[in-house]
This record gives sequence, structure tokens and C-alpha cells, in this order.
Amino acid sequence: MPCCVSPPPLLFLLLSLCVFRMSHSCLPDTTSSYKFTGIVCRLTYPAAVVLNEKTTKVIEAAFKHTKYPSMKGEKSLLFTGRVTYGLDNLEIHNLSIGRSVFELHPGEGIAMEISNVSAVFRGTIQYGYGSWLVNLAHSVDFEIESQIDLGINPKLYCSEAKVAADTSDCYLNFHKLRLHLQGDREPNWLKKLFTDFITFTVKLVIKGQICKEINKVANLLADFIQDMANEFIRIGDISVDIGITTSPVITANYIESYHKGLTNYNNTSSAIRDSHFDPSQLTEDRMLYFWVSDQVFNPMLTAAHQEGYLKLNLSGTELSELFKTSLSNAMPEFIRKCLLESGSPELRVWSSSVPYLKTSTLGTRVWAQASGQLDCGSQGTLSFQTAVALDVTVSYSDKKVFLHSNSSEVLVLHAEILSQNQLLDKAQIEFIREAVEKIGIPKALSVLEIVITNELDQQGTYLFDIFNPEVFPRDGFVLIQMDFGFPHHLLVDFLRKTLE
Ligand SMILES: *[C@@H]1O[C@H](CO)[C@@H](O)[C@H](O)[C@H]1NC(C)=O
Ligand SMILES: *[C@@H]1O[C@H](CO)[C@@H](O)[C@H](O)[C@H]1NC(C)=O
Ligand SMILES: *[C@@H]1O[C@H](CO)[C@@H](O)[C@H](O)[C@H]1NC(C)=O
Ligand SMILES: *[C@@H]1O[C@H](CO)[C@@H](O)[C@H](O)[C@H]1NC(C)=O
Ligand SMILES: *[C@@H]1O[C@H](CO)[C@@H](O)[C@H](O)[C@H]1NC(C)=O
Ligand SMILES: *[C@@H]1O[C@H](CO)[C@@H](O)[C@H](O)[C@H]1NC(C)=O
Repeated sequence: MPCCVSPPPLLFLLLSLCVFRMSHSCLPDTTSSYKFTGIVCRLTYPAAVVLNEKTTKVIEAAFKHTKYPSMKGEKSLLFTGRVTYGLDNLEIHNLSIGRSVFELHPGEGIAMEISNVSAVFRGTIQYGYGSWLVNLAHSVDFEIESQIDLGINPKLYCSEAKVAADTSDCYLNFHKLRLHLQGDREPNWLKKLFTDFITFTVKLVIKGQICKEINKVANLLADFIQDMANEFIRIGDISVDIGITTSPVITANYIESYHKGLTNYNNTSSAIRDSHFDPSQLTEDRMLYFWVSDQVFNPMLTAAHQEGYLKLNLSGTELSELFKTSLSNAMPEFIRKCLLESGSPELRVWSSSVPYLKTSTLGTRVWAQASGQLDCGSQGTLSFQTAVALDVTVSYSDKKVFLHSNSSEVLVLHAEILSQNQLLDKAQIEFIREAVEKIGIPKALSVLEIVITNELDQQGTYLFDIFNPEVFPRDGFVLIQMDFGFPHHLLVDFLRKTLE
């Protein structure tokens, strides 16, 4: 479950970001917002490097997608009178991007420099000169070779609990802008006129349009990633609000974002008012960190319990295989006969009180009440109720979630054979206790592993290349850290879907 929270930070780098600007529903002071923060994401410089490699793809898409408007001009010339001209069908070809570098500026933002963008622009120029020639428009195709450096100082800020990108601090430097006219029929003075007009116009258009497009793509991407992330922790009617509580913080080595982590279920929302995040709880040597408070998990557990997710039916060979686990207590006769002779025994287990968890350095301790009924057809039904406490640790490998518990306590609160109104004796109760501990808990955890893994897969976690993920239990929170590779196909997907 701790691995549930994921991609909002990916955005932070694609756009490269962060500055403190406020709008409503975002708290102005980071430190004071910690106590309302259930989830923290820290993305470090090495992660930024990986993401920056993908930035050029976004920039490329912005260039290609940009619509260049038609332009018109008019000039009075000695001897020939007026010349009117227009620029149409401007297209971009053979775009290549030399390199893209960035720096984190503590407390300020990110500076990004994309140098050596070379591109060929092609279009048509229409012209007519002298009022008597206006109807006889000529046209000539042209091609412009260009080499441009692009600088962006993106700012990320919190807007209505979402991260928004402002890339309006965007500038272009032209190293080269060379015009070729198709054929060479035009008189020199006309070529000179067009050269001036076209280079001026193209500069203007590129400057205006490309920066605008980058801003648009940046915000589309911000929305895309956050929408994806919003969906990220949603199981049926239970969802977790991971809107941000304050603006991201940027230091020389990381970017950190603060999220609410509130569970919404059955028209109510959980609340977090005394969270205990402290930046020193995270280190800076892995690419990506998540800090998740117990206060995020407990309302999720409550909702899962209320929604009836915490239950399990077992029957057939699955059930009989389970009871082949060797236990130190002898199997009560009733259960032995039930499994062997009753035809289709069925075991139902469910949580019978709201579970609660608390994390310490030893693991996450979960308290729950588990009730069960073993239905043995005509032989009757065994009913039992237990109180369980177990320490769970989590790991993730081979794209699967693993839950381990090596210490648990089980107390049998009640056990009887319903049809016979017969309470179990001490030895039988001891068997039930042991069976819950050694069969029931591992089974429940293995089912939960599959459910959580499936849920993560459904949200696309398997798409990410995650390296050496570690999950550490701490006092009151879980710390998840990992390195990752940015999935190229994810970005390609986004660009295809949004720009086409
Ligand atoms: C684009 O590049 C290809 C191959 O490098 C070249 O053949 C073509 O002429 C170029 N197009 C333009 C418009 O420069
Ligand atoms: C820019 O690109 C050109 C040709 O692709 C190359 O010759 C030049 O060295 C590059 N300059 C920089 C600063 O990368
Ligand atoms: C949903 O909330 C209503 C009242 O707010 C309550 O009566 C109902 O039992 C709740 N449903 C569940 C499944 O908890
Ligand atoms: C939540 O509230 C809305 C409108 O107030 C109502 O239509 C809906 O049925 C409620 N949902 C639940 C699960 O109670
Ligand atoms: C479990 O068994 C009960 C009683 O046999 C049944 O009502 C319920 O639908 C079953 N649940 C699942 C998930 O199979
Ligand atoms: C339980 O697991 C923890 C962490 O994996 C380990 O440190 C501890 O020694 C284990 N305890 C037992 C009794 O195996």
C-alpha cells in the first residue's frame, strides 16, 4: 500500500519548476503546512537529470505542434509603388535539439537552457506590386535554416491545490536565420525586401508561438500527470486526495512537494491536523522518496473495512490445501471431518471491527478483529472470533508487492459450533489460534499482496522502471525510496494523445 503514491513529482522535472507563489487553498508557509501534510514527495537532482533527458521531447513536440499564423505586410517603394505580401503555410522540418541543461536554484526555481535547436522552416510568400498588379499575385516558396537557443525559467506554483506551471519567462536567441528563395527569378531588391520581412516575421512568430506552446504543453502535462496521480489511489468508491498543501520547496539538491493524503469515502473526508513531517527524515542520495504518515493509511483501512473489502471466501482444494500446513496442535475432529467428509466445506473470514495501524521502526503493527465461519453443510458450522495484532513490513520487487509478518499475536475471543451450541474446549481453541496465526494471516497477506499489486498495475506502476525500491518503517510513518528510469513510452503516449 505504501507504494501507491506516485507520479506527481515526475512533472516537477519535465517542466522543471518551483517557486513560491500563492493562491487560495494553498498554505503560504511550508513549515506550518507540514502538520496538514500526509504525503511528501522528494525528487532529487539525479532524478532531475533523468527527467531532463525527456524535456527535449516536450520541447520538440511544442515546436512541431505550434501553429504559425499567416502574416501580411505592405511596403511603398520608389518607382514600383506599393508591394503587398503575405506569408502562408509556415511549416517546420528537420528539427533537432542539441542539448538541454538545467540547474536547481534554491528557493527560486529551475533554470533550463536548450541550446542548438536547429530547424528548417518552409512556407510560401505571396506578393503583388503596384496597385495595377494586385490581382496578379505571384508566389514563391522559401526555406529558412535556423539555429536557436532557447532559455526557460519555469516556475511551478500551487494553484487551487494543484501544481501549475508558468513558463512565461522564456526567451530565444537566434544564431542563424538564413533564407533561401525557390528559384532565383526575383530581382535583388525584392529578395532583399523578402529577406528582411521573412526573417523579421519568422523571428516574431517563432518567439511568440513557441513560448506560448511550451507553456500550454507544460500545463497539459501538469494536468495529465496529476490526473493520473489523482486516479492513482482509488479503489472502487474509496479515493485519496493528494492535492498539495503548499508550494513545492526547492534546494540545490532536491525538489519536495507536500500532499494532503486524505481519504474520501461515503461522502466524508478524513482530516490530518497534527502530522509530524520533518525534512531531516529523508536523505538525498536516492532519486525519489515518499514519506507517508500513518494518518494516511488508517482512514484508508477504515474505509476498506466499511466497504467490505476485508473479507475472504475459501472453498474446495484451496481450502483443503491450506489445512495441510503442519501445526503443532492436533486438528479437532469436527474440522477434520468437515474438510474430508462434508462435500463442499466453505470458510468465510472477514474483519469484524475497524482495523488500526501504527508504524514504528520494527514494522507496521496492525490491530484487527477477524471473524470466521467454517460451513460444513449438514455437519454444522464452526464460528469463531479472534483479535489479531501483527507487525507487517512491505517490499516491492519484480513489479510485485510483498507483505511480510514475522511476529503476530492472536487471541481467540469466541469459538463455537453453531448448530450444536457447543463451545470449543481449550485444545480446540489452541488449534484455532495457531491456525489463524500460521495459516490465516499468511493467506490474508498473500491475498492482499495480489490485490495491491493488481491495483498498482491498473494504475500503471508496472510501466515504470523502478530500481532497488526500499520501504522503511519509522515512528508514525513509512519511508519509501527508489531510483527509477523514466518510461519513454509514457511521454510518447501523452504527446500523441494530447497533441494529435
Ligand atoms: C531534412 O533532412 C533530410 C535528411 O537529412 C534531407 O534529405 C532533407 O533535405 C532535409 N529537409 C530540409 C527541408 O532541409
Ligand atoms: C550546434 O550544432 C552544430 C551542428 O549540429 C554543431 O556544429 C555545433 O558544435 C553545435 N554547438 C553547440 C554549442 O552545441
Ligand atoms: C455512509 O454514511 C451514512 C451516513 O453518513 C451511514 O448511515 C452509512 O452507514 C455509511 N455507509 C457505510 C457503508 O459506511
Ligand atoms: C453522497 O451524497 C450525494 C448527494 O449529497 C448522494 O447523491 C449520494 O448518494 C451520497 N453517496 C453516498 C455513498 O452516501
Ligand atoms: C462469500 O460467501 C458468502 C456466503 O456463502 C456469500 O454471500 C458471498 O457472496 C461470498 N463472497 C464472495 C466474494 O464470494
Ligand atoms: C522480524 O523481521 C525483522 C525485520 O525484517 C527482523 O529484524 C527481525 O529479526 C525478525 N524477527 C523474527 C523473530 O524473525
